[in-house]
Amino acid sequence: FTPIGEDGLIGIYLILNGLKVTLIVTLFAMILGAILGVATTLMKMSSRWYLRWPANLYVGVIRGTPVVVQLVILYFIVLATWDVDKVSAAIIAFGLNSGAYISEIIRAGIQAVDKGQTEAARSLGLSQAVTMKEVILPQAIKNILPALGNEFIVLLKETAVIGFIGGVDLMRSGEIIRSRTFEDSVPLFTCALIYLALTYSFTFMLSKFEKRLKQSD
Ligand code: ARG
Repeated sequence: FTPIGEDGLIGIYLILNGLKVTLIVTLFAMILGAILGVATTLMKMSSRWYLRWPANLYVGVIRGTPVVVQLVILYFIVLATWDVDKVSAAIIAFGLNSGAYISEIIRAGIQAVDKGQTEAARSLGLSQAVTMKEVILPQAIKNILPALGNEFIVLLKETAVIGFIGGVDLMRSGEIIRSRTFEDSVPLFTCALIYLALTYSFTFMLSKFEKRLKQSD
């Protein structure tokens, strides 16, 4: 193995391709997770038990089992007969996983807003819905956004288990190079550095954004 020449080019190609898969899965899983998270929160806050119950079960099961187990079950059992490609299966699995965590993030964010805010708004004659939309949510957003950023980072790193279903993400690309070249350090440290660069730049952007949110306090 030489890091330059044809071998090196194949290595770089593999890594870039893996990086692409990692980013695609993370991005779309986050979008799916956000949609599911909002829907689940609404269901959990409902006064109807038949909406609350499935939402609680969903969150309980997802949080109580490792994401890698969920991914493998989804791909090899649930979607087995549907001929779904690995990237889509991973997006669904990670999206489902993230949805449960995101609904908890939203719930915690709403609950962290002081009860007096609701009481004050309600006693001023605002309806339940208006109170939520105009008083509670604008404050809850400040608790929710940083935690959502954190969820994005967790998700990005957690996609490293895609190799379990044979998907070739960044981590798996590093593994393929390692196993074919018997060169351990270069591919694995390259992977680690790319993950670090991704999460670090995202954290940096997030902290800028949080500062701007604080300004309006
Ligand atoms: N490693 C944990 C698990 O396997 C975390 C899962 C993903 N966490 C998240 N916030 N989406 O269950």
